[in-house]
Amino acid sequence: MKISEIIKSKPKIIETEKKPIALVTGASSGIGYSFTCLLASKGYDVIAIARDHQRLYELENKLLTKFNAKIYVLPLDLSINNSVDKIAEFLKKENLMVDVLINNAGFGVHGAFHETELQKELNMVNLQIQSTLSLTKLVLPYMQERRSGFILNVGSVYSFSPVPFQSVYGGCKSFLLSFGTSLAHENKKYKINVTTLCPGITQTEFRIRSNIGKNINSIKHKKTSGMSADLVAEQGYKALMRGDLICIPGLTNRIFVQIATHLPTSLFSSALTLVNSFRGVNSKNS
Ligand SMILES: NC(=O)c1ccc[n+]([C@@H]2O[C@H](COP(=O)([O-])OP(=O)(O)OC[C@H]3O[C@@H](n4cnc5c(N)ncnc54)[C@H](OP(=O)(O)O)[C@@H]3O)[C@@H](O)[C@H]2O)c1
Repeated sequence: MKISEIIKSKPKIIETEKKPIALVTGASSGIGYSFTCLLASKGYDVIAIARDHQRLYELENKLLTKFNAKIYVLPLDLSINNSVDKIAEFLKKENLMVDVLINNAGFGVHGAFHETELQKELNMVNLQIQSTLSLTKLVLPYMQERRSGFILNVGSVYSFSPVPFQSVYGGCKSFLLSFGTSLAHENKKYKINVTTLCPGITQTEFRIRSNIGKNINSIKHKKTSGMSADLVAEQGYKALMRGDLICIPGLTNRIFVQIATHLPTSLFSSALTLVNSFRGVNSKNS
């Protein structure tokens, strides 16, 4: 059944004794993993979505033991077009309504646009934009009807500026900021909070998956620079509950955004190109 059909056949909301439900995309690692643990510790049952089912089942066991939280494991590739239809069917079958939606799953592609792989970039756009829009469209009517709900989209400090050599990634993150902020304003009257979380460098597998930086062992031993994923998720959660439009965790990241938004675009883009060339971001994705 398609999302549009499920929205049309929306069932009457029946208040139950169920715990509140959070849905987290990209729950198998990094910031999404931290969000899942945090939400379980706060008394939510969590629908955890990512491709790596092994990691999701390990997380399920951990959080059941630690917090007695129910984790609904949904192994899905969200870059595939109809994956959100499967989530819609699952919610309907289990009669679940989402109280907190965390649109977090993402990866990066770097290199000059004429050298990068189009299919990788299209998958990234599908994952970051198409799945965020479809999931939001799916849960929003229920939230509006109940006059309560929380949606957090994971952007980046790159949401605020062009990002040469990560042009499509930067474009996705700018889109998410613009979309989230507009959505927040539209939904004030429904008492729905929408926050865009804009982290900078965070100690996750992101840079390894994007072929930027050091090996995975150093990340596991927390030797990489940047904030911990737990701290990023914690600050994002607090901002979401407060109803902040934007959350930029960490002073360095807030300074970066101040510079990005105050310097002339061409000057900032040149500076970012230079900095990223030292970080090895400007070369072709391997
Ligand atoms: N780390 C940073 O420095 C940083 C900075 C700014 C913003 N961000 C943003 O933070 C978000 C989370 O990234 P992270 O840093 O936590 O990286 P991460 O550790 O690599 O986690 C990414 C998550 O997304 C999931 N994912 C990737 N492709 C997917 C797909 N096709 N379908 C479903 N799930 C998929 C991964 O799970 P599977 O592989 O199991 O599918 C994983 O759970 C991303 O949106 C990223 O752009 C990160």
